[in-house]
Amino acid sequence: MSHESTYVPNSGFERWLDKRLPLIRFGDDFMGFPTPKNLNYWYTFGGILTLCLMIQIITGVILAMHYTAHEDYAFWSVEHIMRDVNFGHIIRYAHSNGASMFFIAVYMHMFRGLYYGSYKEPREVIWILGVVIFLLMMGTAFMGYVLPWGQMSFWGATVITSLFGAIPVVGESIKTLLWGGYSVDNPTLNRFYALHYLLPFLIAGVVVLHIWALHVPGNTNPTGVEIKNVKKDTVPFHPYYTVKDGFAVVLFLMLFAAFLFFMPNSLGHPDNYIEANPLVTPAHIVPEWYFLPFYAMLRAITFDVFFITSKLGGVLVMFGSIIILFVLPWLDRSKVRSMRYRPWAKMWFFIFVVNAIFLGWLGGKPAEQPYILLAQIGTLYYFAYFLVILPVLSIVETPKPLPKSISEDVLAKKKARMKKPAAELSGGIAQPAE
Ligand code: HEM
Repeated sequence: MSHESTYVPNSGFERWLDKRLPLIRFGDDFMGFPTPKNLNYWYTFGGILTLCLMIQIITGVILAMHYTAHEDYAFWSVEHIMRDVNFGHIIRYAHSNGASMFFIAVYMHMFRGLYYGSYKEPREVIWILGVVIFLLMMGTAFMGYVLPWGQMSFWGATVITSLFGAIPVVGESIKTLLWGGYSVDNPTLNRFYALHYLLPFLIAGVVVLHIWALHVPGNTNPTGVEIKNVKKDTVPFHPYYTVKDGFAVVLFLMLFAAFLFFMPNSLGHPDNYIEANPLVTPAHIVPEWYFLPFYAMLRAITFDVFFITSKLGGVLVMFGSIIILFVLPWLDRSKVRSMRYRPWAKMWFFIFVVNAIFLGWLGGKPAEQPYILLAQIGTLYYFAYFLVILPVLSIVETPKPLPKSISEDVLAKKKARMKKPAAELSGGIAQPAE
């Protein structure tokens, strides 16, 4: 959907710059980008995510000015930020709750992509870059959580980094490399800090590629039907979607503010307010909420399969659950993009969403029965959805008829609304006769 530039430089300076660095032309083309006229609010999360990344980088850089990455000072430097630094508690809470908001938004964004078949041809690269971003986000969040050097930081880092030891041949070396020694210690904290500072900028780079790749075919839309007629099917990105995205951002920030100002510790674990102690293991080691579904899948593998130990099996399943997303465009071969017109796929998709939430709940439970069995069933469904259900549905499902074009769908909806009785449209309040 790359479109011809319509930018005309207005002043002498603009003409001069346009010949040397067409930055204004680039911004103008970006703002005028023809966007399907029927995007709903599920399509606003990309913009929300961009804001989240900016908030994390800004608050993170300010935190870094006051933080000390040393095992003796890290915990207390965070306390210093909370107590002594001007607005320090707000900045720290904005960063920690900001991570949660970032994951809420990314999960919405990914579920949107799954429902509307955004990963399908010709948008595979947008999707694959998205999965890369997701992996980088997970690495960044994991390492960030270690920095306050509380009990959960320390023990979470120990549990997760130890997993690498299960990899045959190279596992022990990877573990030693991650630790910078023979256990989680000061060198681990230092390298995690360095990487936690670096990765968000790498994410920003991949986001640029992600949006660039998006601007080649353009957005999908809830019908999944491609743009047929630019004039009839699209509107310019600005002002239509700058305003729509802006409104969604305001609502999202209200949710963010509710956590930030009224319950800033509700998503964290109280044990992380106890300084790290390598000699005392917490009763339950749990990751942050956004990792819980993956944690449940890791712990669901309690049995050996041939030479694969349960520990290695758990690691393979956990990483496999994300790696499988890379090949999703080639697993779901259905020609129909949007699940709006795929009644069976839609049903299995909603079960997938419920299953993901259920796995998240199980991840927070102790590793004992019946939770283990339930997590095994949930894990099975997670993989079956991608490896069996979607490929089989691609062949056997009969989709509903698609609208001929985006504008036809929009007009049909408008007509249906016009046909409704006036009282129904006005929420049951009778309108005075003209
Ligand atoms: C920092 C994280 C991310 C940012 C800032 C971001 C940004 C965006 C933006 C601005 C859009 C266009 C607006 C929209 O459709 O919402 C978009 C579209 C898209 N994103 Fe992301 N994204 C991120 C992460 C991801 C992840 C993790 C995935 C999937 C694994 C993903 C997959 C997609 C796809 C497939 C589209 C095309 C949507 C369509 O046209 O149907 N993104 N992204």
